[in-house]
Amino acid sequence: MKKKYMKLLIVALASSFCLVIFFSKLKDVEHKQSDLAKITSVPDSTPRKPTTVAVRSIKKKTHSVMPYELPHLTISETFRKDIPKNGAFWNRKFHSLLRQFDSTDNQTQKGPHKFHCQPDSFELIQTNIQDVHSYPPLYAKFLRGMECRDPLLLIDQPDKCMSENGEDQIFLLFAIKSIPGHFESRQAVRETWGREGLYDNGLQVRTVFLLGRSSADDPKIDKLVSLEAQQFQDILVWDFHESFYNLTLKEHVFFKWMLDNCPHASFIFKGDDDVFANTLAILNHLKSLEPEQAMALYTGQIISKANPLRDPKIKYYVPQSFYEGTYPPYAGGGGFIFSGNLVPSLYHVSFYIPFFPIDDVYNGMCFKALGITPTKHEGFKTFDIREQDRENPCVHQDLLLVHQRNPVQTIRLWRNMHSIMLTC
Ligand SMILES: *[C@@H]1O[C@H](CO)[C@@H](O)[C@H](O)[C@H]1NC(C)=O
Ligand SMILES: *[C@@H]1O[C@H](CO)[C@@H](O)[C@H](O)[C@H]1NC(C)=O
Repeated sequence: MKKKYMKLLIVALASSFCLVIFFSKLKDVEHKQSDLAKITSVPDSTPRKPTTVAVRSIKKKTHSVMPYELPHLTISETFRKDIPKNGAFWNRKFHSLLRQFDSTDNQTQKGPHKFHCQPDSFELIQTNIQDVHSYPPLYAKFLRGMECRDPLLLIDQPDKCMSENGEDQIFLLFAIKSIPGHFESRQAVRETWGREGLYDNGLQVRTVFLLGRSSADDPKIDKLVSLEAQQFQDILVWDFHESFYNLTLKEHVFFKWMLDNCPHASFIFKGDDDVFANTLAILNHLKSLEPEQAMALYTGQIISKANPLRDPKIKYYVPQSFYEGTYPPYAGGGGFIFSGNLVPSLYHVSFYIPFFPIDDVYNGMCFKALGITPTKHEGFKTFDIREQDRENPCVHQDLLLVHQRNPVQTIRLWRNMHSIMLTC
């Protein structure tokens, strides 16, 4: 009985889906793209999430043929030297891409290197990495997906960086890595430091949450996420499985989304959904930067001279036969800030740097390849602060970020920091 209903539901959904696609195609002819975006993103009370999802992905598919010109790219000498030429798989892959890069038409790059997504070519991996059988199972998944860089965007927010007068003038964009099940964390961020709008001195702040698909394979979660996306218009979902090792993929597709939808944001705060950020302090800091600093900013808590960890039991384990060499200096991934005008170059260079299982390190590589040195800022505490200070709003006034806080702690801390009773 239940199954019958399910079938009916599926048929009904599928046919409305087709109608929607058909209808949206008609509309597409009649209206300009921006009109279409308006039609499909108006929040209303009648539930039509699948509509938004379907129309979005179709729009992306037909318009994703590199609508932008990527900037001229140089890959820095220091980065090239940083990556030893040895037998490790990643090192070999990088140097082979580098050779391709160097031999392209005077580096004008008619288009970035094409990757071949063949998720089932495990045999090829075996011939390239002899001891791949000793890798953790999730690592094998990562290796199989290393060349897959173009997942569909299932839920988009194309108007995120538009303001009332149509001008894109976002000063700070919070781009928060989240996972489907983290509803409470996202809500806490929305209600506190991630609140969107016009701040002091006319600075516009926007927030997006970056999501893959729930690996729990729970259709209810996906449904709730699309409801949430309709309600708050701040969720991006790509069609890939949420996993720690897929975070560099998330990074790559986020750069692309920025190029398509938010090319003029001055700064991007990239971070986790379980951090506490001090938005006013961040804005003040960014406003105080010299123009040349603001043009090439990569700041946070900087980890220097780190080496790959070789203990398979550790989350950050990197096998010897996968990568050899030290890591470039990188900002702790709990939260860091960079200049928006670097996005085209970051996106471009990420085609020549193979995906890495640790996204913070991958970011460090991309910035280093562009010749950008990270600037450390003492206000980023990705390894948290002294235990006795963690509830103290006064201590947090001078900080830009602490990791980690749960939703309840975040809301309490925010309220206390903004209480008129507070005297520090
Ligand atoms: C690339 O082209 C520019 C201008 O056409 C030229 O000045 C430069 O020398 C060339 N570089 C290389 C490496 O061939
Ligand atoms: C990353 O996502 C892809 C696409 O969904 C999936 O095939 C792959 O297994 C995921 N990687 C990991 C390490 O889970």
